Formats: sequence, structure tokens, C-alpha cells
Amino acid sequence: MTQPTPSAETTRIVIAREPGGPDVLDVVTRPVTPPGPGQVLIRNTACGVNRPDQIERLGFYPAPAGAPEGLGLEVSGHVAALGPGVDGLAVGDPVCALVAGGGYSDYVTAPAGSVLPAPAGIDLADAAGLPETVLTVWTNVFEIGALSPDETLLVHGGTSGIGTTAIQMAKAHGARVIATAGTAEKVALCERLGADTAINYREADFETVVKDAGGADVILDMVGGDYVQKNINCANAGARIVSIAFLKGSRVEVDLMRVMLKRIVLTGSTLRARPDAEKARLARAVRETVWPWIAAGRLAPVIDSRFALDDVRSAHARLDGGEHSGKILLIC
Ligand SMILES: NC(=O)c1ccc[n+]([C@@H]2O[C@H](COP(=O)([O-])OP(=O)(O)OC[C@H]3O[C@@H](n4cnc5c(N)ncnc54)[C@H](OP(=O)(O)O)[C@@H]3O)[C@@H](O)[C@H]2O)c1
Repeated sequence: MTQPTPSAETTRIVIAREPGGPDVLDVVTRPVTPPGPGQVLIRNTACGVNRPDQIERLGFYPAPAGAPEGLGLEVSGHVAALGPGVDGLAVGDPVCALVAGGGYSDYVTAPAGSVLPAPAGIDLADAAGLPETVLTVWTNVFEIGALSPDETLLVHGGTSGIGTTAIQMAKAHGARVIATAGTAEKVALCERLGADTAINYREADFETVVKDAGGADVILDMVGGDYVQKNINCANAGARIVSIAFLKGSRVEVDLMRVMLKRIVLTGSTLRARPDAEKARLARAVRETVWPWIAAGRLAPVIDSRFALDDVRSAHARLDGGEHSGKILLIC
């Protein structure tokens, strides 16, 4: 892999030269794009590696039009330059940001509305693990799922970047949490993060355990496949089941009778393709509600591992291996 020297004029970015495994990832050099109106140029400290990046690498998750070139959906670092019309930020500010692409880099431009202050008390590199997961959990569990403090959240993939964040945010909100995970170590991590019940789905039938625990009012599902019917079966009356991915497939046959009888809402969403104004609205909501949870020590990114940006193939090999818990970071 090439190892260009970063400078203010050039940036490393990571591209997938064709669909495939981690070896298709290349670090290449591009000119730094100056920030346009309403944009912020960030000198990255780190960027988060997310499952959607793997899907993009495999050729199934094309970037929305106008996104910066290359992989990477979230970064942390310092403001390097401001485009026209940006208020409330200054060069040198420590920040983290959601980006529509190009986050695996030395420099990336972000819409100002997607830039958040780096939370005090969190290592600046670790803050790169916050934007994608916190905004995804916020919009799916709190807005679409409308979780209330007297309800129970069931979150699958409890030790994923999304899952570790969902457990902590739901507990900070006062809700009960049931989480599923695939090993005893991962179950123990879910419990350390505050899950009231954590289920090893390889050893126990989660549907039975959730029913025995009183059922679920909001279900955050990234698995799909046979989980869809089981989610419906263990959901309480009026439950909201929110799909954010389909690791076991999105084409399923289900009995909708229980959906009707229990008045269950089946829904889902994606974050990346939403307009900048919508992401800015989510970022404002998160800053208002979730950032204080971080300041109070009730939420912190769970960091699995750190890799140098030039070692991005190893980072993706770890993601593909599935043994990680929490976030994988690239240090820029
Ligand atoms: N819709 C959106 O806007 C959006 C945004 C961000 C992420 N996502 C999706 O959310 C998911 C989590 O993202 P992430 O970056 O946090 O991923 P991640 O850290 O790589 O975690 C993936 C999780 O999936 C679990 N898993 C994999 N195969 C499974 C199976 N067959 N049965 C049950 N669990 C399985 C793994 O848990 P075990 O090891 O315990 O099996 C792991 O915890 C991804 O699928 C991603 O595409 C969606």
C-alpha cells in the first residue's frame, strides 16, 4: 500500500478499488478539498470503522451523490478551516462529525450541521466512535421507537458499536434493557454496560427469555431472517420493531396476525442517505440530550481496537472476523 506524507495540500483517503475483501482497500493521495459554503474542513485524529463500511467495500452500499470520495462515516479531530457562512465553530476546535463518506483520511469536509463538539472527558480519538452510532441509536430507538423510561428495549448485536451504544443510552434514559450476543464474553460485556438481561443466542432461545422477562416494547434489530418472527412473538402490545440491517437476510415470511392483534409497528431506517438538514436536526437533538449523558459518565464509546490508517486492511480483517466488541478505530 502507498504511504503518502500528509500535508495541508494533500490527504490520504481509502478507496475500494473493486468489490471484495480487505485486500481491495488502498490508501491513495488526493488534494485537500477546501470547505464550501456551510462546510467545515477537519484535520482528523481518528475515524470510526463501521459495518456499513464493510458493506460498501463489498460493493453493496454506494455513497450518496456529493459525498466525499472514499470510505468512512465518522471522524474526530480539529477544525482546520471554515467555509463561508459557518457560525459557532473556530479553527482549532476539537470536534467529532458524521460524514457521508471519506472519513478514513487526514482531512475531510463535513456539513457544519453534522459537526459536534468533542465531548469533554472522552479521548479525542475515541470520540470518532460516537457520531454514527449515537445518531443511529437516537433516531431509531428514541425517535422512531419512542422508547419511554418505563419500557423495555431489546437490542440484538449487544456488543456491536450500535449495540454497546444502545444499551448505555437506553439505561441513561431509565429504560430496562435486554441484549443478545454470541459468546459468554460478549454477554458479560452487555451486563457490564448495564443490560438488565443479556442472552447468549447460541445457547438460549431469545424469544423465550424475553417473554419470560416481560416482553419488549422497542426492538432494535440488525439481524432479520428468522429473528423477524421471533421479535414479533416476544414483542408487547403496541411495540415498535425497528430494523437497521439484515445480517441474516431481509426477505422473510412472517405471520402478520400477531402484528395486527398486538398493534405492533414494524419499521426501520437508514442514516447515510438522509439530507444534511435532517442530520443537522439529529445532531442538535443528540447534543442536547446525549452529550450531557457523556458528561455525566453514563455513556462512553467502547473501543475494541485501534489501527493506523495505513493498516486499514487489518482493521477491516478484524471487522470481518466478527470477534470485536465495540468500535474499531483508525488513527490518522
Ligand atoms: N440503518 C442504519 O442507519 C445503520 C447505521 C449504522 C449501522 N447499521 C447496521 O447496524 C449493524 C451494527 O453496526 P456496527 O457497525 O455496530 O456493527 P458491528 O460492530 O460489526 O456488529 C455487528 C453485530 O452483529 C452481530 N451478528 C452478526 N451476525 C449475526 C447473526 N447471524 N445473528 C445474530 N447477531 C449477529 C454480531 O454479534 P455477535 O458476535 O454477538 O453475533 C455483532 O455484534 C450493522 O449491521 C450495520 O450495517 C445500520
